[in-house]
Amino acid sequence: MSGFKVAIVGATGNVGREMLAILAERRFPVSEVVALASTHSIGREVSFGDRTLKCKALDHFDFADTDICLMSAGGAISKEWSPRIAAQGCLVIDNSSTWRMDPDVPLIVPEVNDLTPRACRVAA
Ligand SMILES: NC(=O)c1ccc[n+]([C@@H]2O[C@H](COP(=O)([O-])OP(=O)(O)OC[C@H]3O[C@@H](n4cnc5c(N)ncnc54)[C@H](OP(=O)(O)O)[C@@H]3O)[C@@H](O)[C@H]2O)c1
Repeated sequence: MSGFKVAIVGATGNVGREMLAILAERRFPVSEVVALASTHSIGREVSFGDRTLKCKALDHFDFADTDICLMSAGGAISKEWSPRIAAQGCLVIDNSSTWRMDPDVPLIVPEVNDLTPRACRVAA
């Protein structure tokens, strides 16, 4: 199947569940979606469109073949994990304020930056 392998960190949270809903609703071109949360949520089910995903633990996940990681588990998790995930070759899009005003981290504003699937594919 063509498309991006996408991981959602914080998939059981309010924001993470909304991210999953929007990815499905907008038919973002995914080959696989992985729901990640804390070790307490291993096996917990979350919805992705009409499918159900079982959560895995962020701590045990290998991002080497993941294209995009959407981070939404709070600033402390982002600070610790985003650089580690990016070091595995995965594009990290962080939803916390941790990297705000960091000159090395581009700010994405959906209404300003074109993030349509076509644009993503061009940039990938
Ligand atoms: N940009 C914005 O406008 C905006 C707005 C709101 C929030 N945010 C950001 O989004 C974050 C999440 O908000 P929320 O309302 O969705 O919070 P929430 O409902 O409390 O969800 C927190 C999520 O983080 C996960 N998490 C906590 N500790 C973790 C760990 N050690 N490893 C992996 N996952 C862990 C939780 O998993 P478990 O269920 O397993 O604990 C849960 O999935 C906020 O902290 C903030 O940084 C941004």
